[in-house]
Amino acid sequence: MARRFRGRRIVVASHNAGKVGEIADLLAPHGIDIVSAGGLGLPEPEETGTTFGENAAIKALASASASGEAALSDDSGLAVAALGGEPGIHSARWGGPRRDFGLAMQRIEDALPPDAARDASFVCALALAWPDDHIEIFEGRVDGHLVWPPRGTRGFGYDPMFVPRDGALTFGEMDPGAKHAISHRADAFGKLAAACFADAP
Ligand code: IMP
Repeated sequence: MARRFRGRRIVVASHNAGKVGEIADLLAPHGIDIVSAGGLGLPEPEETGTTFGENAAIKALASASASGEAALSDDSGLAVAALGGEPGIHSARWGGPRRDFGLAMQRIEDALPPDAARDASFVCALALAWPDDHIEIFEGRVDGHLVWPPRGTRGFGYDPMFVPRDGALTFGEMDPGAKHAISHRADAFGKLAAACFADAP
């Protein structure tokens, strides 16, 4: 049985403003406020794991122990089937030191052979850690395909080149509420909320 979170505030163990905003929106209906690790000036640990879950755990445990509060981290990325799952856990790094996702999307497009299948999935691991090092980890995904050129200015990262299965719009074109309803982050978050939040059934 997962440990329940009964507080009113969670440290979001991320320095990525796009993710922090999406997680704040997901937590708000549960009456939970957030403060970001960046806002608290917490250091960013090195992501040395080999899976989304391992990297999420590293980040959540580091923020929980540095802040003395429960911390929620997200490790996520785009897995492209024809590229053996890359960029995967390296999704942020494909944007280079300046985190230029126009460049990262171009890298993906250039790496895909012309006749390759364009199937891709966004994957998200959410880890909720407490200062005593207890941790709960949940994984979610959304399957879809890649389009070129990228479309839309909403969302962040690789959103403009990803169309979810049975959809027509990219995540970059969709209303944020529509993305939140089906995203990999929402999938993982639904599992976390059901297991760990006191207001869950
Ligand atoms: P992380 O901070 O190491 O987990 O990096 C995850 C990277 O994956 C982000 O910088 C984005 O480029 C990409 N990513 C994760 N989730 C999304 C999403 O919902 N939309 C677009 N890109 C995403």
